[in-house]
Amino acid sequence: MTQTALRAAAIAGTGSFLPERIVTNDDLAAELATRGIETSDTWITERTGIRQRHLAERGVATSDLATEAARRALADAGVQADELDLIIVATSTPDFVFPSTACLVQAKLGNKGAAAFDVQAVCSGFVYAMSTADAFVRAGRARCALVIGAEVFSRILDWNDRGTCVLFGDGAGAVVLKAADAPGILAAELHADGSQMNILCAAGNVAYGEVTGDPFLRMDGQAVFKQAVNVLEKSARQVCADAGLTLADVDWLVPHQANVRILNMLARKLDVSLDKVVVTLDRHANTSAASVPLALDAARRDGRIKSGHVVLMQGVGGGFTWGSVLARMS
Ligand SMILES: CC(C)(COP(=O)(O)OP(=O)(O)OC[C@H]1O[C@@H](n2cnc3c(N)ncnc32)[C@H](O)[C@@H]1OP(=O)(O)O)[C@@H](O)C(=O)NCCC(=O)NCCS
Repeated sequence: MTQTALRAAAIAGTGSFLPERIVTNDDLAAELATRGIETSDTWITERTGIRQRHLAERGVATSDLATEAARRALADAGVQADELDLIIVATSTPDFVFPSTACLVQAKLGNKGAAAFDVQAVCSGFVYAMSTADAFVRAGRARCALVIGAEVFSRILDWNDRGTCVLFGDGAGAVVLKAADAPGILAAELHADGSQMNILCAAGNVAYGEVTGDPFLRMDGQAVFKQAVNVLEKSARQVCADAGLTLADVDWLVPHQANVRILNMLARKLDVSLDKVVVTLDRHANTSAASVPLALDAARRDGRIKSGHVVLMQGVGGGFTWGSVLARMS
C-alpha cells in the first residue's frame, strides 16, 4: 500500500448473495418434528418476524458466498478486482483457522497484492469492518477497499436447540469503498464489553487435532434482546452527534437483522418511523455479519435507498459488541 494524502471514503457500490436453498418456518418445523422437537411458523413469526432463511449446501463455504457478493459489488461500482488495495471480510464462520477468508476471496477474485484480513466481531462484524476500511482510506493507506460480511451460521447451530436454530441463516453482502473528496462515511463508532461474552457465544476451538469446548452457538435470548435495544439506541444517538446531524436527518436505518421486535422497539425509542427502517429478516433471518450489507444492498436495488440519502447502519452481537456507521450514499 502506498501512502497518499488524507481523504474521505465513499460507498461506490454494493452487492449481495444468498444461497439458493430456502427453508421456510414450516419446512423447519417439519424437519425438527422428525426429531421430536416442537416449533411452529406461528411461534417463530410472532416472536421474531422471521418467515424463512437461506441455507448453504454442504461444501459451500463462506468464501464462496463472499466472492459472489463481492463480484456484484465490484460490478455495481465499475471497479476491477485488480484495483482493490484492501479486502476485509467480517465473519465468525471462516472457511479455515487460517488463512483468512479475505485471502481466499482475494484469490477467487484474482486480485494480487491487496492487504487482506478478517474481522471477527460476530453480528457487529460488518460495521467494525466498514469503520476499519474507512480509517484506512482516510489515513491514505488504501484507495479502493472491498468490505464484506459473509457467514454460514448454519454450520455452528445446534439443530436440536429450538431456541437458537430457528433464528439464523446464511448469506453475504459487500460494499466497495473508494477514496473521494467528500465523505460518504460521515461518522462511525464501535464498542465492546467482553465481560458479557457468555450471553452469546460459540465457545469451541480446534486444538490437538480435535474440537475442544462447545462448537455450537449458545445464547441467553432475553439478555441479548435487552442489551441490543439499549446499546443500539445509545450508539445511534452518538454517531449522529459525532457527524453533527440529528436522527431527523437519517433517511434510512439499516440495523442488524435479528428480531423484528428489537427493530420496532429501537425505532420507537429513537422516534424514527418504521417506514424508514429496512427489514429483511423476514426473508433472510439473522445472517450475523452479512445482515447489514444484505439489507443495504436489498434496499438500494429496490430503489428505496438513493444517492444522497443518509443511511445509519448498526451492528450488535456476540462479544458483546456493537457499533454504528453513518453514511451519505454516493
Ligand atoms: C430468542 C427469542 C426469540 C426468544 O423469545 P422469548 O420471548 O424471549 O422466549 P423465551 O426464550 O422466554 O421462551 C419462551 C418459551 O418459548 C419456548 N421456545 C423457545 N424457542 C422456541 C421455538 N423455536 N418454538 C417454540 N417454542 C420455543 C421456550 O422453550 C419457552 O418455553 P417455556 O415457557 O415452556 O419455558 C428472543 O429472546 C430473542 O429474539 N432474543 C434476541 C436474540 C437475538 O437477537 N440474538 C442474536 C443477536 S445478534
